[in-house]
Amino acid sequence: MTTEEPEPAGHRPVMVKEVLEYLACQPGHVIVDATIGRAGHAAAILERISPGGRLIGIDRDPEAIERAKKRFAGQPVELIHDNHARLEAILDELGLDAVDGVLIDCGPSLEQLTTARRGFSFGRDGPLDMRMNPDQETTAADLVNELPASELARILKEYGGERRAQRIAEAIATARQQQPITTTAQLAATITAAIPPRARPRRLHAATKSFMALRIAVNDELGALRKALDAAIHRTRTHGRIVVLTYQSLEGGETKGAFRRARASSKCPPLPSDERPRVRILTKRAVKPSAEECRENPRARSAILRAAERL
Ligand SMILES: C[S@@+](CC[C@H](N)C(=O)[O-])C[C@H]1O[C@@H](n2cnc3c(N)ncnc32)[C@H](O)[C@@H]1O
Repeated sequence: MTTEEPEPAGHRPVMVKEVLEYLACQPGHVIVDATIGRAGHAAAILERISPGGRLIGIDRDPEAIERAKKRFAGQPVELIHDNHARLEAILDELGLDAVDGVLIDCGPSLEQLTTARRGFSFGRDGPLDMRMNPDQETTAADLVNELPASELARILKEYGGERRAQRIAEAIATARQQQPITTTAQLAATITAAIPPRARPRRLHAATKSFMALRIAVNDELGALRKALDAAIHRTRTHGRIVVLTYQSLEGGETKGAFRRARASSKCPPLPSDERPRVRILTKRAVKPSAEECRENPRARSAILRAAERL
């Protein structure tokens, strides 16, 4: 049985009831939690698949893996410090041809976002880092100080939807000629100064979108999600489930796209020679958290759950 450790405020796993319902896990199942984080979902899943089940927990953040190792000591949980972009290879290495379900809870953890030394936050001064995996070479400071302004502008626009991407990128290019930008506070101040006071968003910090865009680029979040989704679709057994929680539209788009590409069409059923894995999309409409959950857990507000069943 899992030891139920109370989650600190703000670290609550999102839509646990819905995740369990769509994963449809049962005793004896083999489930992959491809983003174990603080292991809130993992603990709930482990309870459902016990006895006889096996949980594979993956995270690219070694701190998450170390914490989960302590929490699940002596339980049927394998914890792997890796990028879920390698899900197919990870399953090969574990000798697992197929699993009963895969959960992907996208993006960074609240812990990463709120720990100053991890360098994700414009609100907490720290080194301009943003790596989910500190073993990775490229940091946000590398991108900010080394990329051409045009490439920076593309990242801010494409991944952050920042309307003033060009202007911000030029301000960064000017500022870094004086001295390298090495802290989150320096970057936040440079971005804020690039936007005229009247044009600054009222509810968001002026640097919100740019910080999100850089984080997505540093961690190649969308590339990793695409690969993990493909692997999940390939390696989930018939009637197994794939459940994805996303928090912004680009992640949502990747998930919808992957499910749609694998969707079995009633007009055009697969030919016997077609070996591509097929799915049935279970969430015709994206599933959102209840108003009560959004009140209790602000992180849940932007969450959308999508699920598919392997055919
Ligand atoms: C939103 S949190 C997961 C929270 C978790 N479901 C829980 O119940 O606590 C996302 C986690 O996924 C990890 N992560 C993000 N992208 C990853 C990737 N490509 N490979 C492995 N882990 C990843 C992050 O390091 C973070 O710990």
